[in-house]
Amino acid sequence: MISENTPAGFPRMTSQISSSLLLKRLNSNAEALEKVLADLLSDAPLKHEIARPSRLLAAMRYGSLNGGKRFRPFLVVESASLFSIPAANALLVGASLECIHCYSLLHDDLPSMDNSNLRRGRLTVHKAFDEATAILAGDALLTLAFDIITRDEIHADMATRVLLTRELARVAGLGGMVGGQIMDLASEGRFDGDKEHDVETLQQMKTGVLLGLACRSGAILGGAAPAERSALDVYGKALGQAFQIADDLLDVESNHDALGKPVGQDSVAGKTTFVTLLGAHGARMRLHELVAEADAALDIFGQRAEMLKAAARYVAERQN
Ligand code: IPE
Ligand code: IPE
Ligand code: MG
Ligand code: MG
Ligand code: MG
Repeated sequence: MISENTPAGFPRMTSQISSSLLLKRLNSNAEALEKVLADLLSDAPLKHEIARPSRLLAAMRYGSLNGGKRFRPFLVVESASLFSIPAANALLVGASLECIHCYSLLHDDLPSMDNSNLRRGRLTVHKAFDEATAILAGDALLTLAFDIITRDEIHADMATRVLLTRELARVAGLGGMVGGQIMDLASEGRFDGDKEHDVETLQQMKTGVLLGLACRSGAILGGAAPAERSALDVYGKALGQAFQIADDLLDVESNHDALGKPVGQDSVAGKTTFVTLLGAHGARMRLHELVAEADAALDIFGQRAEMLKAAARYVAERQN
């Protein structure tokens, strides 16, 4: 189906999956993920844990349950389904990535970072609890992610689990999300020179690489052939960049009711984004080019990749 929302002049996407079917699948996956995460965040201490302090656990639940699009777990499940990996295994990987994502949001919202009061339609964790609790809840979600991704249920082969774990560490840390976040803060108020390359790098790091791993993890779980792996790499890289550009556009074009988080914050903080560099129209052009690139990368999978193609289109069309 050709997207009805694709403005004239933008590249057309080829997925046969309608936007409503994509949303239905995204929502049912989010429900399944919610159950998995809720179980992981139960009161009962695990082997080698002494106790689960109730205030910390409450903040972790508040910051990770009942909200969010769960787009990263969705990408894991869909990419894994290309290789006939059961959804239950993929959902655990998705839960691990979602813990990293939620922790990154808890810390991103802190007064010392983006100083946001609203997230997913309600008070941010440091507002609902307090700053120290939000920092610690983020820390504990980060370590929980690594507990989850090493679990036997994810894959029978330990080497595959170690590979996934290492990749997660790398996309989440110094050379990935955390590194990107410090570059994002350092870019505040700086509009000098040709900054496109720098913004692309920082956005790839803070947002793109975790989304990229979500797409690649199906290939890792499924022991994909090199050509299939690199197709998912190309898809994930373009999709990850597109996702942050869409986020930056929503910050200037949406409202806090639709988004569930504050708008206009990037310009108040003086962030450098593709919207500040290219203007809203230029950023949207770039977004559509990236989505078309992601779409084309999946051609080698034929019809099997229709849902992932629809997911790429969704990145440009999403309203929150
Ligand atoms: C928001 O991510 C932060 C970025 C990395 C751009 P999402 O838009 O995926 O947020 P949730 O998880 O749906 O709330
Ligand atoms: C956040 O980017 C990226 C990470 C949390 C790693 P933003 O700061 O733009 O995300 P929002 O707009 O607060 O969700
Ligand atoms: Mg930020
Ligand atoms: Mg922010
Ligand atoms: Mg943003």
